[in-house]
Amino acid sequence: MNLYERIPNNVNLSQNKRLQRALERWLPNYLEWWREMGPEGFQDKDVYLRTAVDVDAEGWANFDYVKMPDYRWGIFLKPAEADARVGFGDNYGIPAYQEVPGEFRNSLRRIIVTQGDTEPASVEQQRQLGKTCPSLYDLRNLFQVNVEEGRHLWAMVYLLHGYFGRDGRDEADALLERRSGNPDKPRILEAFNQPCDDWLNFFCFTMYTDRDGKYQLAALAESGFEPLARTCQFMLTEEAHHLFVGETGVGRVVKRTAELMKESKDGDARSLGGISLDIIQKYINFWFSYSLDLFGGEISSNSADFFAAGLKGRFKEQEQYEEHVAAEGTFTLMVVEDRKLVPREVPLRNALNEILRGEYVKDCERAMTRWNKYLRDAGLDAQLYLPSTRFHRHVGEFAGHYFDIHGNLITKEEFERSRSEWLPTLADREYVRSLMRPVTEPGKIANWIAPPTAGIKGKPFDFEYVRL
Ligand SMILES: [Fe+2]
Ligand SMILES: [Fe+2]
Repeated sequence: MNLYERIPNNVNLSQNKRLQRALERWLPNYLEWWREMGPEGFQDKDVYLRTAVDVDAEGWANFDYVKMPDYRWGIFLKPAEADARVGFGDNYGIPAYQEVPGEFRNSLRRIIVTQGDTEPASVEQQRQLGKTCPSLYDLRNLFQVNVEEGRHLWAMVYLLHGYFGRDGRDEADALLERRSGNPDKPRILEAFNQPCDDWLNFFCFTMYTDRDGKYQLAALAESGFEPLARTCQFMLTEEAHHLFVGETGVGRVVKRTAELMKESKDGDARSLGGISLDIIQKYINFWFSYSLDLFGGEISSNSADFFAAGLKGRFKEQEQYEEHVAAEGTFTLMVVEDRKLVPREVPLRNALNEILRGEYVKDCERAMTRWNKYLRDAGLDAQLYLPSTRFHRHVGEFAGHYFDIHGNLITKEEFERSRSEWLPTLADREYVRSLMRPVTEPGKIANWIAPPTAGIKGKPFDFEYVRL
C-alpha cells in the first residue's frame, strides 16, 4: 500500500518514516471501524462528495462520485505563517511552540483526545439515518458530514501520532474502541452518547452540537502550539458546511411546519403529517442545553491555565481583542448560593468557558431570528425561542439545580411536573420517528420538510446526489 497516495496530505508524510509507520498501523483499524460503525447500508453506493486534496482554493473541495470506504481521508494543515508567535497569555509574543510544551503535555493530550472522540462518535450516532432520508440531497449531506467527521478524527490522530509518542498511539487506538451510547465504553462527552435516530435530531445535532465544535476549534485555532492551530484552522473550513446543514435543516422543517399550520383546518401541522412547533421547540431545548454543557464549567481554573499557557485562546482572539494577556479583568456571572441565584465576580481568565459559551449563544440567537422569520412570513404569531442557559444543565454551576426555561430557580418536583412540556417525551420521539420514511426519488422530498433553496455545487435539487 502506498500510504502517500492513499492519504492526501500537506504534512510531508512521505518524508516522515516514523509517522508513516504509525499511520500505516492505524489505517486498517480505522477502515474496520468505518465498515462496522459508518453509515449502514450505503457503503457500496456512489455518493456525490467533496474531497479535500489540498488546502488552497482549488484543492480543498473536489466534487465527484465516491464510494464512502474509498473516500480519501487526508491530513491537512493551514500553511504555516512566517514567524508565528504565541498570541495570548503569559507567554504572549514568544515564538510559537513547534513541539508540545512539557508541563502541558497531559492537558494538551486530553484536549486533543476529547475533540478527537467527538468525531467518530457523531458518525456512530448517525449511522442508521440514511435509511430514512427525506431526500437524496439530504442523504448526500449526511454522508458528507460523516466522511468529514472521519477526516477530523484523522486530523486529531495525526497530532497524537506526530507529537505524543507512545501514549499518543495508545490514545489513537482507544478512539476507535469507544462507542457512542455504549454503557461499558461510552464516548467521553454526554451529548455524543445521546441517540440521534431521527432527522430532526440530526438537524438539531448539526445545528447545536457541531456548532459547539466550531467554537472549540476556533479557540484552538488561536493556539500557540502551532500544529494544533493550523490543523483546527483547516477543520473549520469543512465544519462550516456541517453547520449549514443543521441551520438550514431546522429552518426547512420550521418553514414546512408553518405551511402546514396555514393549510390545516385546526392550525396544527400534525393533522397534515408535519412536525408541530411544540415538538420542534422541545428538540431545540434538548440539544441546546446538552450542547451548552460541552463548553465546560462557568468558573474554570483549567480554562485559566490553558489561556495562561497560550494553548487555548478566546473566540477570534487576534481579530476581536486588542489586549491579549487578560491578566487583570473580572467577569460577573450568576451562581446558586443558599438556594438563590446571586451574581459572583471572578477573574476574567477563570470565566473563559463562559465567555466562549456567550459567543456561541449569540450565534444560536442569530439562527433563531432567521427561523422565526419563516413563521412571521407565513402570517403566524407563534415564535420559537432559546431556553435560558441555566435550563437542563448537567455540567457547571447549574448542574444539580433545577430551572424553568426562563432560568428561574425551581424545585425538582416543579421541574418534573413540567418536564413533558419542555423536553421531548417518548410519544414526541415516536411521532417524529413515525414520519421518517425514506424518499429516494431524485427531486422528491418528504412531507414534513421544505426543499432547500439551492442544490450542492450548483447542481439542481433533483440531481442524483446518491446513486442507489
Ligand atoms: Fe468535526
Ligand atoms: Fe462537524
